[in-house]
Amino acid sequence: MGDRSDNGESGTLAALVGKHVVVVGGTSGIGLAVARDVAHAGAEVTLVGRDEARLRHASGAIGGARQRIGDLREPASFPALFEALPRVDHLVITAGTASLKTLRDSTPDDLRQMLTERLVGPLSMVRAALGNFSATGSIVLTSGLLADRPIRTGAMLAGAVAAVEAVVRALALELAPIRVNAVSPGLVDTPLLDAFFGEGKEQALASAAAALPTGRIGRPDDIAQAVRVLLTGGFITGEVLHVDGGGRLV
Ligand SMILES: NC(=O)c1ccc[n+]([C@@H]2O[C@H](COP(=O)([O-])OP(=O)(O)OC[C@H]3O[C@@H](n4cnc5c(N)ncnc54)[C@H](OP(=O)(O)O)[C@@H]3O)[C@@H](O)[C@H]2O)c1
Repeated sequence: MGDRSDNGESGTLAALVGKHVVVVGGTSGIGLAVARDVAHAGAEVTLVGRDEARLRHASGAIGGARQRIGDLREPASFPALFEALPRVDHLVITAGTASLKTLRDSTPDDLRQMLTERLVGPLSMVRAALGNFSATGSIVLTSGLLADRPIRTGAMLAGAVAAVEAVVRALALELAPIRVNAVSPGLVDTPLLDAFFGEGKEQALASAAAALPTGRIGRPDDIAQAVRVLLTGGFITGEVLHVDGGGRLV
């Protein structure tokens, strides 16, 4: 029987052949691993980031991709970005920073910026993409372990990523048959953590790894593999896929 949510290739690698996948945050870490993975599976990739040189470098690293400048903090520029692109089959937004502060140390501007980067920006990006989006396509947003496991300096970020999880469930209804999901990474060794832990990174990651059921922290490819499941799983929508080595359990 005909089916409005996939083309019969759901769940297979072939499901991505020739599909146009836009990766916002594809210049580094998790996003770069996602871009490489879907390109390897035969997708046509567009990378969105804030810096031309970083985009060029990432494109080279995955064997060539279309490159577009886009900053999650500047939603007004998104309609023009998508107007100039071919029809989008999948949109993956991994972009984000991790500036953690206590509420006491945060100004109202800090709070607004956090919400713009985590919520207003990604949602505006989705909205702009919808004008030219495949009905058999999907959207993957990024949440994070903080939604479930709070830390003292992470109240705002916890709230923002928890909101992402609530949003994907509602958007899965609003945007159907487009599927909408989120991936929630635990600790993953990327440049983000270099900035976060500084010189103490190696030691911090070793003790974090020892506390996890998996005995190791994540690699960008672990998250890319999970994102591929969400992109190709034609029966998965409104879901948050936790890829955290069991981090929510300990
Ligand atoms: N690594 C972890 O342990 C971990 C854990 C939980 C959640 N996460 C989340 O996973 C996502 C990816 O993290 P990562 O570890 O891969 O970080 P990363 O290596 O630092 O990469 C961050 C990416 O986000 C892009 N970016 C940052 N701010 C942006 C903005 N305002 N507009 C557009 N692009 C922006 C950067 O692009 P340019 O700088 O080139 O513009 C870069 O491509 C983030 O949302 C992070 O919070 C990570």
